[in-house]
Amino acid sequence: MKIGIIGLGTVGFGVVEILTEQKERLEKQIGEEVVIKYGCSLEEVSLPENVIYTQDFHDVLNDDEVDVVVELIGGITIAKTIIIEALKKGKSVVTANKALIAHYGEEIFKEASLHHAKIYYEASVGGGIPVVVPAKEDLVANEILKIEGILNGTTNFILTLMETDNLDFDEALTIADGLGFVEADASLDLDGIDAAHKIYILAMNAFHSFFDFDKIQANGIRQVTKKDMDYAKKLGYRIKLIAQAKKLENGIGIDVSPTLISLKDMVANVNQAYNVVEITCNYLENVLFYGKGAGRYVTASAVVSDIIKTHQKDMWEHDYTHVNCIYPITFSKYYIRSHRALDIDYETYFSQDKDHIYITNEIELDELTHQLEGETYNLFKVRG
Ligand SMILES: NC(=O)c1ccc[n+]([C@@H]2O[C@H](COP(=O)([O-])OP(=O)(O)OC[C@H]3O[C@@H](n4cnc5c(N)ncnc54)[C@H](OP(=O)(O)O)[C@@H]3O)[C@@H](O)[C@H]2O)c1
Repeated sequence: MKIGIIGLGTVGFGVVEILTEQKERLEKQIGEEVVIKYGCSLEEVSLPENVIYTQDFHDVLNDDEVDVVVELIGGITIAKTIIIEALKKGKSVVTANKALIAHYGEEIFKEASLHHAKIYYEASVGGGIPVVVPAKEDLVANEILKIEGILNGTTNFILTLMETDNLDFDEALTIADGLGFVEADASLDLDGIDAAHKIYILAMNAFHSFFDFDKIQANGIRQVTKKDMDYAKKLGYRIKLIAQAKKLENGIGIDVSPTLISLKDMVANVNQAYNVVEITCNYLENVLFYGKGAGRYVTASAVVSDIIKTHQKDMWEHDYTHVNCIYPITFSKYYIRSHRALDIDYETYFSQDKDHIYITNEIELDELTHQLEGETYNLFKVRG
């Protein structure tokens, strides 16, 4: 496999790093060499030995040896040209570009099928969370009825900050911006456009349809005030920016809007910059995908998985190595309830009635049980 990476910014350079660090393991996985032949960006960056640096993406597209083109420049103009040209040459394309797929997916996929070329875009929704392929392939026995989720980490971070630090929208935005959470074009995040790009892609795969992106109504979080959040909480709800797509009798409903969600709902408890996607379907009922939706390695990991998929022949070959060394996982924090006060290192302690309750620091079980010799106690693992 010979790869050309166009765009060496946050995600692109992460892809270079992962492919370099994991080269041996990935090559074993697909049974062939994984070579980054080109890295392309406007400003030169330091690349591993043997990777050719170029400023001109045509060098990548015109090289017949390159069979996988990775587009990571973003935007919908030059990126579109790069992808269409690569597909025309029969190269596989991997991208994280949600805006481009949402606006020009129909045209791009037609080009791909015309030239028997493939395009992969898992990283375009939910960063590293695998959610595009499940919506497209893994739930095929089911009819997907609805997809909804928190698809934009920046707005979720701002809403979380408003609640935890008792701030209004503008104050929280200033902090989020200072921490580098807000894109150069803030409107993409704040007005729900980025979430709309992503729900478009999920709906396209779930319902096997293209739509006009411009018909999606996107409302962002600018109108959400601290007062609304407080009232919502009193009523047992939290306000989240929810992107939704579902089948309607006369078509498909898609929108993005601030929405009150019951505090008992798992989606209401997805905070900070985390993303979640909930898919409702007829047999599996509900399934949730939760994780980090942005960031260098998070997103680059999904891009690398797609790069490997372009050459993966049979994922269901069962040629695993047999490992005999299987052990219990004993290095953990532990919960201990004892009738006597204990002489142990702990993170948390309280006593109630006749019980002494401890959460220990992380410790090897052998070491802990040695310290507890002669005592009577109840002990469970605590997830770290
Ligand atoms: N960042 C994330 O966490 C994240 C998450 C999910 C999806 N994505 C998507 O991933 C894509 C890349 O995002 P990013 O955050 O990595 O962007 P970025 O940091 O701005 O990097 C863009 C890169 O593209 C290069 N570039 C721009 N125009 C070029 C041209 N004409 N020819 C060659 N190189 C060019 C830039 O070069 P110079 O630096 O030299 O100008 C830079 O290396 C976008 O589609 C974005 O929506 C990002």
